[in-house]
Order: sequence, then structure tokens, then C-alpha cells
Amino acid sequence: MNNRLVITIDGPSAAGKGCLARNLALFLDFSILDSGALYRAFAYFHNQGLNNKEIESSIEKLMFIPEKDDTKIFYEDTDITSSIRNEEIAKVASELSALSDTRKSLIDIQRNFMRSNNLVADGRDMGTVVFPEAELKIFLVASAEVRAKRRYLELQNRGQEVNMRDLIADIEARDMKDKTRTLSPLIPAEESIIIDSSTMSLDEVLSFTKKLAKKELNK
Ligand code: DC
Repeated sequence: MNNRLVITIDGPSAAGKGCLARNLALFLDFSILDSGALYRAFAYFHNQGLNNKEIESSIEKLMFIPEKDDTKIFYEDTDITSSIRNEEIAKVASELSALSDTRKSLIDIQRNFMRSNNLVADGRDMGTVVFPEAELKIFLVASAEVRAKRRYLELQNRGQEVNMRDLIADIEARDMKDKTRTLSPLIPAEESIIIDSSTMSLDEVLSFTKKLAKKELNK
């Protein structure tokens, strides 16, 4: 049996990576790295006027608590989840994540998550750049229409009115930006298993992924 296992889940926005990563980590009792949350936290501390060194030490103090419906993020006993999961922070995170200084600041912090723990890590470059040695790499995709529909329902549940056509256009524009950026572009790692969740439920994706993880654990 392996002593330690790293599972990476990469893919475009709104493909369901966070939900899959959280449920898989809870099922396997693994630690979780939501790397998007680190980029969001980077933007949050940047907005507070901190420089990159100060941001790094603040991010090192973050705690991630996976729950069934969300991963809660705490900074020094304060729950900052809703302060980083909003559109304003998403925009700043998107800009800052394209800069090499930002990515350099976060690389060691991300790698430290696997020091002594089994880990499920989700993001854009987990399997390609941050954990190239990961034993199991998943690349989760879904059509832009399906992802827009999921996001639509999610925003509607939160009481926000959105237009489906705008959502599809936003998602396609972000895909293009993620795939064509110079640093850590969104591409599947060579050995990754590509799962198209367009016609699959979360439970179906989860049970398929659990089987893959169990196989790895029993090697
Ligand atoms: O997955 P998310 O929406 O929480 O990610 C927030 C931002 O961070 C998004 O603009 C993409 C970026 N990101 C990244 O560049 N690399 C990662 N590994 C994870 C997220």
C-alpha cells in the first residue's frame, strides 16, 4: 500500500472540480488543497494593500475545512469564505494569477500541502506544474452550455439574476484566456484521465473517481 497519495483534479471553471475534490477528500479522509481559493486569498490580501511577502505569510496561516456543501476558509479564526468567493475577488484573482510573481509566491505553499498528508488538490495546473509526480490525475471537463447552466442555477439559488447567453459567453472567454496564457495554461497532464461530466451526475463522477482512487491506494 502507498504511504501517501496525491490526487489532482484540474479543469475549466464551473466543471465541478471543487465539489468533486471536496467529496472525494471527505470520503477518503484526505487533506484538501483548493488552489483557486489560494489565488482568491492572494487577491483578497492584495486588496488590503499587503506586499507579496506579507501575502505569502498571511496565506500560510489559512486553514481549509472541507464540509459537504463548501470548503470553509479561515484566517486566524475568522471565516473569510464569503469574502473571497465573490465576483469582485474572482476578477482580481484572474488578473493576478497570470503574473509570474504571484505564481512563484504560491508554488511552495501549494507543495507544502502534500508534505505529510494524502491530498486531493484541485485547480488548473495541479497535475502539470504543482504536483507533476501525483499518482492519479483527473481532468474534469463539461460543455460550456452545461457549465453555464450549473452556474446559472447556483447564482439563482443565491438570489442573483443572470442571463444564460452572457454566462456562456463569459465561460467561453475565460476558457480561452486560461488555455492560451503563457504561464501554467489550462491543459491536461499527459497521463491524466479525462472525465466529461456533461452527461454525468456528481454521484456518477464521484463513484467513478472513488474506484480509481481505491485502485491507486491498493497498489
Ligand atoms: O477556481 P477558482 O475560480 O476559485 O480560481 C480563481 C482564479 O485563480 C481563477 O482566475 C483561476 C486562477 N487559478 C489559477 O490560475 N491556477 C490554479 N491552480 C487555480 C486557480
